[in-house]
Amino acid sequence: MDFKGKNVFITGANRGIGAALVGACLNRGVAKVYAAARDKNKLPKNDDPRVVPVQLDITNREQINEAVSAAADVQILINNAGTLHAGSFLEGNRDGFLRDMQVNYFSTMDVMTAFVPVLKRNCDGRIVNIVSIAKFVNFPFIAGYSASKAALYSMTQAARIELSPYCIAVHAVNPGAIDTDMNKGAEMDMTSPVEVADSILAHVEKEILDIVPDKIGQAMFKVWQESPVGLENLAKDMYFKKPVP
Ligand SMILES: NC(=O)c1ccc[n+]([C@@H]2O[C@H](COP(=O)([O-])OP(=O)(O)OC[C@H]3O[C@@H](n4cnc5c(N)ncnc54)[C@H](OP(=O)(O)O)[C@@H]3O)[C@@H](O)[C@H]2O)c1
Repeated sequence: MDFKGKNVFITGANRGIGAALVGACLNRGVAKVYAAARDKNKLPKNDDPRVVPVQLDITNREQINEAVSAAADVQILINNAGTLHAGSFLEGNRDGFLRDMQVNYFSTMDVMTAFVPVLKRNCDGRIVNIVSIAKFVNFPFIAGYSASKAALYSMTQAARIELSPYCIAVHAVNPGAIDTDMNKGAEMDMTSPVEVADSILAHVEKEILDIVPDKIGQAMFKVWQESPVGLENLAKDMYFKKPVP
């Protein structure tokens, strides 16, 4: 698989990983990249004629339908938009949990289903869902967010199976810690959005369906592979702020 010459649609493209994915797509020679944002005036200035700005709040069904009509030549959909409510199971705010579930799960699913007819028509389609390493284990300080990403992963698997007869591959990308606004103030050695965006596209080109694109994510994934309880214990240590090995 090659991004060269493809038409790509990216949600949440105004900052963080989404903005970096726009740049990575251009570097790989895409024909067109639809850069979608809740407020398209906030998209980084880009004079490249291949960039098509799109207004899209993924919680707005009308805007989703308009985006699908405006981008009827899309072959690759990257569902990157996401929110994170920092809150634990006992102390989290229910509205925050609801918002993460709405944006990260229900609305992401709405975007996927709305684009399926387009992807079917344009042949050899691809959906790339930016999930999280938090799909493997619940990090208690972001309990609702972790649950929303586990839900998104589960629906990604459903889509993968159901869309396979139509030659639509569905990828799950599970980053660990990337240096974006979402992690503002976190004291960790994080991967840059530019580096992770390039790694994501390289993994998609290699047709890898479950992707862990960064170093922290890969270290956590290794712990999980050895023992899922081992990763739970690590999440517990992080929650109680014990030194992580
Ligand atoms: N950073 C990490 O360590 C990490 C790790 C694992 C997974 N991820 C996932 O990676 C994705 C990108 O996150 P990021 O780190 O780049 O975070 P970010 O800098 O906070 O960016 C989040 C993006 O999502 C957009 N967004 C939020 N709600 C939206 C909505 N209703 N409709 C459309 N766009 C919406 C934001 O737009 P506004 O500017 O309008 O708010 C922004 O463009 C998310 O799905 C996140 O869960 C991140």
